[in-house]
Amino acid sequence: MHISVLFQEVLDGLQPNADGLYIDGTLGFGGHTLGLLQATSPNGRVLAFDRDQNAITEARKRLGENGVLDRARLIHASFAEMGTAAPANGFTNVDGIILDLGLSSMQLDSRTRGFSFRYAAPLDMRFDETDHVTAAELVNELSADSLADIFWRYGEEKRSRFFARKIVENRPITSTTQLADLIASFSNRKQRTHPATQIFQALRIAVNDELGALERGLPAAIELLKPGGRLAVISFHSLEDRFVKQSFRELSTDCICPPQQPICTCDHRAVIRLPRRKATQPSSAEIAANPRSRSARLRIAEKL
Ligand SMILES: C[S@@+](CC[C@H](N)C(=O)[O-])C[C@H]1O[C@@H](n2cnc3c(N)ncnc32)[C@H](O)[C@@H]1O
Repeated sequence: MHISVLFQEVLDGLQPNADGLYIDGTLGFGGHTLGLLQATSPNGRVLAFDRDQNAITEARKRLGENGVLDRARLIHASFAEMGTAAPANGFTNVDGIILDLGLSSMQLDSRTRGFSFRYAAPLDMRFDETDHVTAAELVNELSADSLADIFWRYGEEKRSRFFARKIVENRPITSTTQLADLIASFSNRKQRTHPATQIFQALRIAVNDELGALERGLPAAIELLKPGGRLAVISFHSLEDRFVKQSFRELSTDCICPPQQPICTCDHRAVIRLPRRKATQPSSAEIAANPRSRSARLRIAEKL
């Protein structure tokens, strides 16, 4: 099960209309897709992507039980491909797009997928189980320098070089708990979160090239919107949110020349406007009901 984060805020932001065409780039357990289909009854349609075939199977069941599956098209692909996959499925000039980034509770709580240090499982972490590279391959085959770069870049782990060296000295490392215990054994601070939290986040982002997907998917999403159409992006860590914030700022600005330049030479024109400058965060009631929502940030853009 996965509880949709910022559910009402996403619907309020996308302002769904009956007859509209919508894209859900991250289907998961289908919560946002279900909300969109219910809000656009009887003719609205949703094209939904997920890299995880299990998510598609579960969401298909849920949408079927709610009587809306006939208006949904679910495809096993990355939202990074939406620039070609959406038109190929008849979705152009769309009214709204949602990207709810990262992983679902179904994935995090799986006893076999290797996303969590709480359960002993092979170090896998692939969203798409047909992909080739697993977390075990990165951990056991990369140099200490490359591992440290991943921990630093995607986990903002301050002791990235130290942990990378310890991992290399203790290879092979094949299970989640083996890696988590190793990191914990060298951790010298009392922390609120498990000392391996950032290392696990970094490996997951690297295995799934999550920032690469966002870099390709975000401009493709804006391109697919019709004028007045809206894009909603929920991110869960500062790396993603920073990228979304900077992209939205640049795309909503007419001139991106350096401020010290007296005359504009960039010919850049805004393609979106931001209905709200600041990111929306979950209410304290939502965080109390679903603590995993606490780091969520929602940003909305409207195509000009
Ligand atoms: C936070 S969950 C989405 C939950 C969903 N909004 C709901 O309400 O049930 C994120 C989902 O996106 C999927 N995902 C992550 N990166 C993806 C990508 N590049 N393309 C497609 N799906 C992706 C994950 O497999 C996961 O199922």
